[in-house]
Amino acid sequence: WILMATARAPTNIAVIKYWGKRDEALILPINDSISVTLDPDHLSATTTVAVSPSFEKDRMWLNGKEISLSGGRYQNCLRELRNRAGEYTDENKGIHIEKYDWNKLHVHIASYNNFPTAAGLASSAAGFACLVFSLAKLMNVKEDLSQLSTIARQGSGSACRSLYGGFVKWTMGNEMSGSDSIAVQLANETHWDDLVIIVAVVSSRQKETSSTSGMRGSVETSSLIQHRAKVVVPSRILQMEQAIRNKDFSSFARLTCADSNQFHAVCLDTSPPIVYMNDTSHRHDLFHNYRIISILERWNRHEGTPMVAYTFDAGPNAVIVAPNQKVAIDLLQRLLFYFPPARDNELSSYVLGDKQIL
Ligand code: DP6
Repeated sequence: WILMATARAPTNIAVIKYWGKRDEALILPINDSISVTLDPDHLSATTTVAVSPSFEKDRMWLNGKEISLSGGRYQNCLRELRNRAGEYTDENKGIHIEKYDWNKLHVHIASYNNFPTAAGLASSAAGFACLVFSLAKLMNVKEDLSQLSTIARQGSGSACRSLYGGFVKWTMGNEMSGSDSIAVQLANETHWDDLVIIVAVVSSRQKETSSTSGMRGSVETSSLIQHRAKVVVPSRILQMEQAIRNKDFSSFARLTCADSNQFHAVCLDTSPPIVYMNDTSHRHDLFHNYRIISILERWNRHEGTPMVAYTFDAGPNAVIVAPNQKVAIDLLQRLLFYFPPARDNELSSYVLGDKQIL
């Protein structure tokens, strides 16, 4: 016999960023973070998992290519899931799995990202959220999403936030075990559905410094990161929660841009400095992400109120949030004016909503 389960999980974009761990093995952060989960039609992972007595070992394929599961992060997720697996019976098929049988049975995992391959967008958040959710279904794990988020967190910190739609907070927690370092939903996907998120794909180049090693460097060498984690972020989290509750775009935009810029300031304050923000400038001067910032800042200043919010992760692509479709279209027209599609289509923008533009 063989049992299977399939799930899909979208990626999420942090508007108050997670940067820095207090425990590397358990992936426990030094500050809370807040994110928006994207619409699953665009940047998401789809994972099918299977179990059968005939499988001889755990195996995984990512986009059709077998990858090793020997890394600590995969092993931690698999162990946590097996510890919480439940009994399963299907009398018609004559299947009976005891709780403890899951320690002997092996799983096969096949995961696909629907990320445009050229986009160079991070996929670990969607990937681990999807892996944990699909395996939890297969193994009959009877825990709620916040409990599952503590497992996804051990795959990749940002993954814990992708288990929920809408606006999500990852509370850092205080326990050494990480039991209270969980994701909670602040508002579901229908709460503020006017927002449009545009990912301006500036470069498909892989980032030079991974988030994991980048944040390790910042924790070890930056003094700014301490001030950020202890003073700035706690107050921003409260303000952001309020902005989301009240659908107050102007506060939302101000906090989002400020937090992205402070995260990149912490990167520069790291020794040796980490420079994610000008990663793309070598390709084409027009696609300098500082230029995107200056265009958007100028537009916001000109209107006297934030028209859009921008945020950049540990990679070159701009994520821009518009308050509604009308502004989103205006924004796309501006981007196309300043960054006309290059010969080799370096800048491809698309709206993460119900339609794809470009
Ligand atoms: C800048 O979750 O990729 O995107 O926990 O080491 O896997 P690990 O790091 P990861 O870091 C994400 C960093 C960020 C900000 C964020 O998503 O909050």
